[in-house]
Amino acid sequence: MTESRDWYKQAVFYQIWVRSFADGNGDGIGDLYGVYDKLEYVRSLGANAIWFNPLYPSPNADYGYDISDYCDIHPDYGDLDQFKKVLDKAHSLGMKVVMDLVVNHTSDEHPWFLESRKGRDNPYSDYYIWRDVPNNWKSLFEGDAWEYDSLRGQYYLHLFAKKQPDLNMDNPKVREEVKKILRFWLDLGIDGFREDVINFISKREGLPNGISFLPILGDMIHYKDGPHIHEYMKEFREVCDEYGAVQIGEGPMTTVGNALTYLSGEKKSLDMMFSFDHMTADCLYTEYMHRPFRLVKLKRALSKWQKRLGDRAWNTLYLENHDHPRVISRYGSEHYHRESGTALATAYLFLKGTPFIYQGQEIGMTNIRLSSIDRYVDVSSKNNYEKYHLKDDLKSRLRRIHISSRDSARTPMQWDDTRYAGFSEAKPWFYVNRNYKRINVKLQEEDKDSILNFYRKCIRIRQKSRTLVFGAYREYLPADPNVYVYERELNNIHYLIVVSFAPVKIPMPVPGALKGIPVQRVLTNYPALHKEGETLHLPFDFLHLQPYEAAMFRYRKAASASYDSVDKDSASGRVK
Ligand code: GLC
Ligand code: CA
Repeated sequence: MTESRDWYKQAVFYQIWVRSFADGNGDGIGDLYGVYDKLEYVRSLGANAIWFNPLYPSPNADYGYDISDYCDIHPDYGDLDQFKKVLDKAHSLGMKVVMDLVVNHTSDEHPWFLESRKGRDNPYSDYYIWRDVPNNWKSLFEGDAWEYDSLRGQYYLHLFAKKQPDLNMDNPKVREEVKKILRFWLDLGIDGFREDVINFISKREGLPNGISFLPILGDMIHYKDGPHIHEYMKEFREVCDEYGAVQIGEGPMTTVGNALTYLSGEKKSLDMMFSFDHMTADCLYTEYMHRPFRLVKLKRALSKWQKRLGDRAWNTLYLENHDHPRVISRYGSEHYHRESGTALATAYLFLKGTPFIYQGQEIGMTNIRLSSIDRYVDVSSKNNYEKYHLKDDLKSRLRRIHISSRDSARTPMQWDDTRYAGFSEAKPWFYVNRNYKRINVKLQEEDKDSILNFYRKCIRIRQKSRTLVFGAYREYLPADPNVYVYERELNNIHYLIVVSFAPVKIPMPVPGALKGIPVQRVLTNYPALHKEGETLHLPFDFLHLQPYEAAMFRYRKAASASYDSVDKDSASGRVK
């Protein structure tokens, strides 16, 4: 029997990048023993689902996204038995578990690739994309997208690092392998997949050259949302359908129009997709092309996806993951740490869609600033350092890495103020952020107004409200450069969310429709100034906001005839 998939609409996900989450066996590397012990913590946030970044055996050229065995657990993290224990415990606590599926490429140490290299007449020969003469594509992580293999005497395609050869999804045998992997994990009892760069798996026939003056972007037209993508996705969907498994695609550079083809209609093959538009409010496409943060750009991206997906499809909501620097350092302020951390939470947790919280985000972890590029470990940061802005002096190139590196998301989780931040008893595999004595779980547990407890409160409010899960979205003041104001509404129950992104006090003009209306304040991040639960009238002119002040107000439109008969916005929509 398959269970309804719809649970994901009312879920809040917590994302675990295991290597830096919690070390359970004292070797300095996070693992599934550590995860097992922290599941109650994850549940205490209100999360009811977990997404695990890749846990599989991997040489770690791209920290798990280069997989050498799809049906096992990396020995650093435990084994299949330990995984099963984590899975069972997560389920018993009421949390679903979603695994990362990485099938655009494998590791070059995967047995398929080792076989494929051997020549053109072995059974794995066409598992990868080999050519005598490469085209002009550039990889996203390391130089040209082609690497010569002397054993085979040909070039192989790698859209990411050299150690991540692309699979040839046009080969039906490869698709059968993918389906076997899906079944393997679904038979173990997991609840779904997050599908890595899934919109890249179908490349255009003949692999034509990209537009030469547009490196990477000009190649993508030949492999992003490629010609057979929906046929392949359909095959995978059928397997997931048998199990009622949720599918969440990662869709780098996908437009909202393309996303809708995966998320709705006849070709529907995904339940949700991670879009990237809103992650470029301070950069051009990728973080190493850094620009000042612009709230209007962020709001435009969020509103576009909110409106276009509307009732037709379901959004993911996120501000951080393992691929981006920490959001307080990007879109907030390290100086207004608590204020901006809680403001950012308010800005996104009440949008329409399923929220994802990345480990450490809930305590406001910030970027790490290492003293030399040699200390960074992420392949793409190193590549960016060596490839871009070469005219700049070394100091400013390193500053770009401080701003942009994925490594900032991958420092050990800050549990307390003891040595190594309570992550491990041994020296951790990677640097702990120096601010761990100030920013850690233990301190924030003790402070009712901490970022951590604010996240808990937001999730609690969200999960009790059908309006905040299912209600319509409407934005106010879209051109205002300082505040994000939006409303959610269902059956005449309205929530107005107001978030200042300004590091100074600002007056916010009250939009016409809201002038003077009676509201109830249900949330504030300035508890010393305001009381939650108080009723007030919105002013007719300006709402005066503190630096990074965030508030949520609840109200009904008195004009509605059914004012009193409307169902209470109750716990009926709560996730069990
Ligand atoms: C996705 C992953 C990222 C990885 C890349 C290649 O973008 O999230 O971490 O490096 O794909 O697999
Ligand atoms: Ca360990």
